[in-house]
Amino acid sequence: MPLPADSNASSHTTRAPVRVIAVASGKGGVGKTSVSVNLAMSLVHAGQRTLLLDTDLGLANVDVMLGLSPQFTLADVFAGRCELRDTLLEGPRGLWVVPAASGKRHMTELLPQQHIGLVHAFCELDLPIDVMVVDNAAGIADSVLTFCQAAQDVIVVVCDEPASVTDAYALIKVLSRERGVNRVQVLANQVANANEGRQLFEKLERVSSRFLDVTLHYLGAIPRDEWLRRAIQRQEAVVEAFPGSPSALAFREIARRARQWQSPQGPRGHVEFFMERLITQSANEPGHHDPLRSAVA
Ligand SMILES: Nc1ncnc2c1ncn2[C@@H]1O[C@H](COP(=O)(O)OP(=O)(O)OP(=O)(O)O)[C@@H](O)[C@H]1O
Ligand SMILES: [Mg+2]
Repeated sequence: MPLPADSNASSHTTRAPVRVIAVASGKGGVGKTSVSVNLAMSLVHAGQRTLLLDTDLGLANVDVMLGLSPQFTLADVFAGRCELRDTLLEGPRGLWVVPAASGKRHMTELLPQQHIGLVHAFCELDLPIDVMVVDNAAGIADSVLTFCQAAQDVIVVVCDEPASVTDAYALIKVLSRERGVNRVQVLANQVANANEGRQLFEKLERVSSRFLDVTLHYLGAIPRDEWLRRAIQRQEAVVEAFPGSPSALAFREIARRARQWQSPQGPRGHVEFFMERLITQSANEPGHHDPLRSAVA
């Protein structure tokens, strides 16, 4: 598949810093993929050139939620059957998607070096995008930790279940202690009312401020919404299918807040998506080596 505007875009456009937002949760099934898909689509609506990366090799479903049929997925990249750029799919309204594959070898079975190799491979995509949203697998595996560490912002999705709160705390703890993540955005999902979201945040914030060196920000709440379930049935983002629904309005507000986050200022000295674009002066053109392939080998 030809890359979008690659040949036409100026080097300034394609090499500008990319804001990377990772979505994670600890516990499974709380709404990471729904949040990733709808946040990415809302950013597209707001005029941001957006790439949505699905890193859940075990139970990938970004492509299913958007009704896309990938020819190649990340699983093919790790198997050496294609390059990362071959997996790029164009979704609704020009949203770019890198799909994973369901039921294939799980990311946790890959080596940490391979996760890092994937992060570095994005530097070579040369895609004209402003923002990348990374949907993660559930749990606190090395892959999740690396992709969160390599993003500038991490959204931890939590819902009103004891296991969701304790697993979110466990994730925040390892991100902070082992990966130096010192800022986390908390998003409450499937809430019955605004108070519920705020209370969930306060629960997490109380224990985190006591035991961890990390600042939690309350990003907001997405209501439990039947329209979102219907949109999933239709394989569309709810912000596309039912833009006036309560969850769609909430996603738009979350995207508005996310756009106000400070842009990356420069490399932070550890594994990072699109690191080359953060090094402003004398940005070398990418060489011919393929870090993903070499990490996979
Ligand atoms: N705000 C919401 N309102 C109603 N239902 C929701 C909402 N968010 C998520 N759901 C329901 O929860 C299900 C799981 O959501 P989703 O697949 O986004 O979770 P996940 O955290 O990505 O799961 P996994 O850990 O398996 O990757 C959805 O199929 C949907 O039915
Ligand atoms: Mg998911």
